[in-house]
Amino acid sequence: MRIQIKSAEEIRLMREAGLVAAEILDQVCAAAKPGVSTWELDRIARVGIDKHKVKSAFLGYGGYDVPPYPGVLCTSRNHVIVHGIPRKDDVIQDGDVIGIDFGIFKHGFCADTARTVMVGNVSPANRKLVEATEAALETAIALCRVGSRLGDLGSAVQNYAESRGYTVVKQFVGHGTGRQMHEDPQVPNFGVAGSGKRLKQGLVIAVEPMVNAGAPEVEVLDDKWTAVTKDRSMSAHFEHTIAVTDEGPWVLTRPSSSPGKP
Ligand code: MF3
Ligand code: CO
Ligand code: CO
Repeated sequence: MRIQIKSAEEIRLMREAGLVAAEILDQVCAAAKPGVSTWELDRIARVGIDKHKVKSAFLGYGGYDVPPYPGVLCTSRNHVIVHGIPRKDDVIQDGDVIGIDFGIFKHGFCADTARTVMVGNVSPANRKLVEATEAALETAIALCRVGSRLGDLGSAVQNYAESRGYTVVKQFVGHGTGRQMHEDPQVPNFGVAGSGKRLKQGLVIAVEPMVNAGAPEVEVLDDKWTAVTKDRSMSAHFEHTIAVTDEGPWVLTRPSSSPGKP
């Protein structure tokens, strides 16, 4: 599919989707405490979806080769990189780092956003990994302006992570988003500055660094969804949906953001 450029009015609608996604994700993250199962987190998100009369972007998602996704959240604890399936027997422990990814459709447009929550007493090493992943996302967000290239974003994330001794996951990438959750272009978390497509006004992308403490290799478990680090090292993931406006980046899934003020 070609890249779908959004009008100012469409971006305004996507902002409404972004605000709802952020609000529900806030509630889910606040509930991520020791003893709570990831299935319970999924329940909380479903209540939010019903209350706001929006549609899950995840539930039932899939292709021929994977079973339809059964949750409205992806809950990815510790060495799980992304796409962890909420389960009753997957119970949060003190010291966990848990990636929570949430996406909805409102007005027919997707907002896709994720955070890694640190639960209780997180080790200094794991804390650093999570903070670096979030900061790596911010370096890419700052580049979401007209004229930047996709390689600039990827290289910024990769350099930020690798200069701190981490690795970036290459098997999964960020993406355009809009009437479909996953649109062109792909937005890799690696690359060469000065290369790749230029960002245009009206492009909306989900940027989502996945950073590993150990090796970058991925293994997908038998459920065909859960992606873990091959070496079982820790991994963190943050994601925002960002519009490229004439004034600069607008982080649609961050309530405090406005056009040009990420
Ligand atoms: N939200 C994920 C992403 O950031 C994709 C989730 S796949 C699903 O692209 F099946 F869980 F929906
Ligand atoms: Co996502
Ligand atoms: Co995404």
